[in-house]
Amino acid sequence: MEYYVSASVLSADMLHLEQEIRKMENSGIDMLHFDVMDGIFVNNISYGLPILESVNKCTDMFLDVHLMITDPLKYVKRFADCGADNITFHIESESDVMETIKAIKECGVKASVSIKPATPAEAVFEYLPYVDMVLVMTVEPGFGGQSFIYDTLDKISSIRSKANELGLSVDIEVDGGINAETSPLVRRSGANVLVSGSYLFKAEDMSDAANKLKEGSGD
Ligand code: DX5
Ligand code: ZN
Repeated sequence: MEYYVSASVLSADMLHLEQEIRKMENSGIDMLHFDVMDGIFVNNISYGLPILESVNKCTDMFLDVHLMITDPLKYVKRFADCGADNITFHIESESDVMETIKAIKECGVKASVSIKPATPAEAVFEYLPYVDMVLVMTVEPGFGGQSFIYDTLDKISSIRSKANELGLSVDIEVDGGINAETSPLVRRSGANVLVSGSYLFKAEDMSDAANKLKEGSGD
């Protein structure tokens, strides 16, 4: 299986974002994870379209956009226009899931669905044939730096089993509390795209930290 590290810029130094992006580029990071929060779907407000547009102008990195907003359908086109390469939205949002997947695909970008820790794995089964990736939240969405919720491991396994059963090579992304200790567990359960914020940005050597997230994953 191919493994990817998606670095969450929520943990970056916003005042020196360009330098932080160069650091990611030079550390073997595969994707830039861009968390969008509206203060309604989650109890936090982050950043949005103008920042994504500027980030897109400054790098060729794959832009992995994670929408934690109430009505993603309303905004997918604008996020795609601002440079998103993948758009992930929550099935717990108010938008129609199939309609939103379709709208994202019409923009020519990858479409992914996400579930919060309390949402069962089965909730995404019907969408597996239509999405590029499923994001299993391994913390409650809203904030970086939280502790990994171990109960989510079984959900990753059941989504991977279901995808295999259907003959689908869908990516499974995990987000929240991913570090050197939790990464082997999520990989063993079937996740192959690892989002990490505080662990990567607090590391003395970001390349080393990124390697650790993928360590042993060649087998
Ligand atoms: C949380 C965000 C995450 C967050 C992860 O709602 O979706 O992407 O930045 O941060 P860490 O790796 O610090 O848990
Ligand atoms: Zn995220």
